[in-house]
Amino acid sequence: MSLDGKLLARARDRLETIRRENEADTRRRRETVYARNPKIREIERSLQETMISAMGAALSGCDAREALAAVKEENIDLQEQRVLELTRMGLPMDYLDDRYSCPDCHDTGSQGTKICHCLMELYREEQAKDLSALLKLGEETFDSFDLSYYSDSVNPATGMSPRQVMETAFETCLVYANKFSPDTSPSLFLSGAPGLGKTFLSACIAREVAAKGYSVVYETAVAALAKYESERFGRGDPEELRGDIRRLESCDLLILDDLGTEYPSVFTVTALYTLLNSRLVNRKKTVISSNLSMRDLELRYNPAIMSRINGDYSLVKFEGSDIRRLRRERRLTKQDDR
Ligand SMILES: Nc1ncnc2c1ncn2[C@@H]1O[C@H](COP(=O)(O)OP(=O)(O)OP(=O)(O)O)[C@@H](O)[C@H]1O
Ligand SMILES: [Mg+2]
Repeated sequence: MSLDGKLLARARDRLETIRRENEADTRRRRETVYARNPKIREIERSLQETMISAMGAALSGCDAREALAAVKEENIDLQEQRVLELTRMGLPMDYLDDRYSCPDCHDTGSQGTKICHCLMELYREEQAKDLSALLKLGEETFDSFDLSYYSDSVNPATGMSPRQVMETAFETCLVYANKFSPDTSPSLFLSGAPGLGKTFLSACIAREVAAKGYSVVYETAVAALAKYESERFGRGDPEELRGDIRRLESCDLLILDDLGTEYPSVFTVTALYTLLNSRLVNRKKTVISSNLSMRDLELRYNPAIMSRINGDYSLVKFEGSDIRRLRRERRLTKQDDR
């Protein structure tokens, strides 16, 4: 699983802020208690001194046992005094202890060599924010995908109704999302006319795969290819553009939406080749959605691109009537009924 460096850095920054806030909170609690009861400050100072003495005794080598035992006893005694004072003030005995948002890593973000679950949670939140252009309303889930929008009258040419075709498309996307593995999953090519739910199902896949902790990036083909163009022609911040291109080429799953809506030029075709080829070389998966059929693709792109799409992408066909239009009509019918 490759984590996105930019998102991980953002997650670490947030954890650092949480850690600092907890520290500031502990300082504030201490100051308030010291102001009300200066004796507690003295006890805590003495406690620190006992720690230093304990270390000195341990390092002194020759027969430190007796000295250590004395220090330990003094330490326990001081701790008891502190508990007594706090209880007198009506405060819990651990009131002055350091507090951590994550008890497992003490807000450091790692447990040994492993990333702590709390940092992964923040990472997932950053990823969801990053995908917000795609998941904007948050209503697109596999559960809310409505098959009744697709007609069940059989197309004599294919012997299948749009609903049957879409049942297969839905099932394919659902299984893909649930079983996603960067090693074994294929890439997908979602093909069909406008308004049939391609972006909808891409969003569902993105949400599920991101929730498993994989790095997922959503970009329209126009925006993705424009990054290559800007980088090539020195427009914009080169460092940032290179970072964006790296993410496009190396995230675990790229959702490349609306392929074919970009301006057709030698440059965009070359950029698309670079993007798709880099993802193949990096062994990363891509979900492309497009209004273009395989035939249209052949006319538009070069054999090198087609060979990669034909070889590594599973075709998922979308059929039916434009749901944007159907929804508009349903709304109008409702208004007329009133
Ligand atoms: N099966 C469905 N159930 C409920 N709403 C749907 C369904 N499919 C699509 N929609 C809704 O219809 C609208 C169009 O869907 P979407 O944007 O996914 O189409 P598209 O195939 O990506 O179209 P385009 O090719 O124009 O990008 C969206 O508002 C989407 O939420
Ligand atoms: Mg779309």
